[in-house]
Amino acid sequence: MAVEPLLSVRDLTVTFATDGGPVRAVDSLSFDVERGRTLGIVGESGSGKSVTSMAVMGLHTGADVSGSITMEGRELVGLAERDLNRLRGRKMAMIFQDPLSSLHPYYTVGEQIAEHHRVHFGSRRAASRRRAVEMLAEVGIPEPRRRAGEYPHRFSGGMRQRVMVAMALACEPDLLIADEPTTALDVTVQAQILELIARIQQERDLAVVLITHDLGVVARVAHDVLVMYGGRAAERAPVDVVFAAPAHPYTRGLLDSLPRLDDADDAPLRAIPGSPPSLLAPAPGCAFAPRCRRAASAGAEARQRCERVEPGPVAVAGHMVACHLPLGPDAAPCTPSSEATP
Ligand SMILES: Nc1ncnc2c1ncn2[C@@H]1O[C@H](COP(=O)(O)OP(=O)(O)OP(=O)(O)O)[C@@H](O)[C@H]1O
Ligand SMILES: [Mg+2]
Repeated sequence: MAVEPLLSVRDLTVTFATDGGPVRAVDSLSFDVERGRTLGIVGESGSGKSVTSMAVMGLHTGADVSGSITMEGRELVGLAERDLNRLRGRKMAMIFQDPLSSLHPYYTVGEQIAEHHRVHFGSRRAASRRRAVEMLAEVGIPEPRRRAGEYPHRFSGGMRQRVMVAMALACEPDLLIADEPTTALDVTVQAQILELIARIQQERDLAVVLITHDLGVVARVAHDVLVMYGGRAAERAPVDVVFAAPAHPYTRGLLDSLPRLDDADDAPLRAIPGSPPSLLAPAPGCAFAPRCRRAASAGAEARQRCERVEPGPVAVAGHMVACHLPLGPDAAPCTPSSEATP
């Protein structure tokens, strides 16, 4: 029997009015997240990952948001600010890349977690302080009672991010959105924070959306992957399916650009040639077509289709893929580019 998703996003479109004209940062995006699962959203800079997460949190007041976002069947698009506020914290919480910008320098970390708990739970002062210490212990801060009384600047980057996880989870949300939570950290600390999120996700049966530009991170902690390109879904599938046999040439390009342990020291990193599409004046057809080696090497008719007709999402062997020329399970790599081949 299919599991009912906790979060369901359908045809989400987010448009900003700018001096240069409308910018469609997210375009007809659909995905589900179930309890106990982690969805990794990946894509290059500007692909619409953060805008998607902010839309789910209802934090895009200046943008035009259309489509549907439901939590346990309840529609969030168009919900009054007061009702959204009630849901934020209690039902869904978010962790950002830079914990310092989310922590107030003049209040102790314990006060900040306690305050968050009071606002969302209506708890009393003593109970919220106890909760703050409990949460600091849960996220692995040593001597949590003493550390609760310290200010954020006394914490290392990794410890601050643990504090952010503690704050996000203090009100026991069902959905946690983490937007590049480890990008600013060194690899060892990054691994610890990812392990922490994965452990808590399992223990609390949380639905997690993990946003990153790093497919290596996704491989370690996600169950499902959504690959975004130019504000749209390029590919969506369970993580092992994506890594074993990516169907979209863009996903293939991202995978090929991952450094590999078995690479020779001097093996070049194969970045995808070209740059992401303009969202101000999107070209017709597939947004990836100008960078796609598969389209470039196709026959004239197939190439014209890529350049002129926007591919809709289709289901192919466990994937959702938006591509006219999807790769089959045995396809040869469509990158590297000739410049990058030694
Ligand atoms: N308030 C805004 N007004 C106009 N355009 C915006 C606004 N916020 C985001 N955008 C545009 O939307 C697009 C998607 O931005 P978004 O921040 O979601 O990218 P991202 O995938 O999170 O990238 P990164 O990996 O760099 O964080 C970008 O082109 C960005 O310039
Ligand atoms: Mg972002």
